[in-house]
Amino acid sequence: MLPDNIRCLAHPLVQHHVAILRDQATDASQFRDAVRRLSTVLCVEATRDLSVTRRTVQTPLSDCEGQQLSQSIAIVPILRAGLGMVDPLLDLIPQAAVWHLGLYRSEETAQPVGYYDKLESGSVPDLAFVVDPMLATGGSIDLTVRRLQDWGVRDIRVIALIASQAGVDRVAEDFADVSFTIAAIDPELNDQAYIVPGLGDAGDRIFNTQ
Ligand code: PRP
Ligand code: URA
Repeated sequence: MLPDNIRCLAHPLVQHHVAILRDQATDASQFRDAVRRLSTVLCVEATRDLSVTRRTVQTPLSDCEGQQLSQSIAIVPILRAGLGMVDPLLDLIPQAAVWHLGLYRSEETAQPVGYYDKLESGSVPDLAFVVDPMLATGGSIDLTVRRLQDWGVRDIRVIALIASQAGVDRVAEDFADVSFTIAAIDPELNDQAYIVPGLGDAGDRIFNTQ
């Protein structure tokens, strides 16, 4: 049983594209395509309960009642790998702002190290979708969620492709009011804090820098 704030999609399309991501024979172009497709499906799930307001729309035949999104929305990719998930979210939410956060994991400690953050310069969105393909130890998400909370964002939703069970347990408990929408949860982390079976290094596979 998963905690209430964790959604893992057991859907055949998700499972199909996750297998493509995992496959070491998948090249960078195919990998980016699978990231895009999965991000679209996960975004639909993560936005299921967005707030809307009514508006009247005039069709060629008559007036009718329509709806429009009522919150200011931001997409927050964690560099680098999160960049691969931005366009599919922007396709669905074209009015969203995109705020980049630069983090990398230290190879010695597996702790996240920040290197880019311009959040204070802009107005605080009502809702932020944090996107990163991998949630391993949960350290990068921990830092990001705390940063967004400090900035004043009240509704934070994380979309990740593959998470470790340990990472999910950590963030689900520490951030009970943050939702996590994930394509697959894997059992282990290895001694370099990589997810097993996982898919390897998501940033390297997206940007062909292996
Ligand atoms: C990866 C990944 C996450 C982080 C997850 O980034 O994209 O940001 O590691 O690990 P964690 O849950 O243990 O913090 P990485 O540091 O490899 O940087 P990159 O995206 O630039 O390759
Ligand atoms: N970052 C990745 O890209 N892959 C992992 O398995 C863990 C962190």
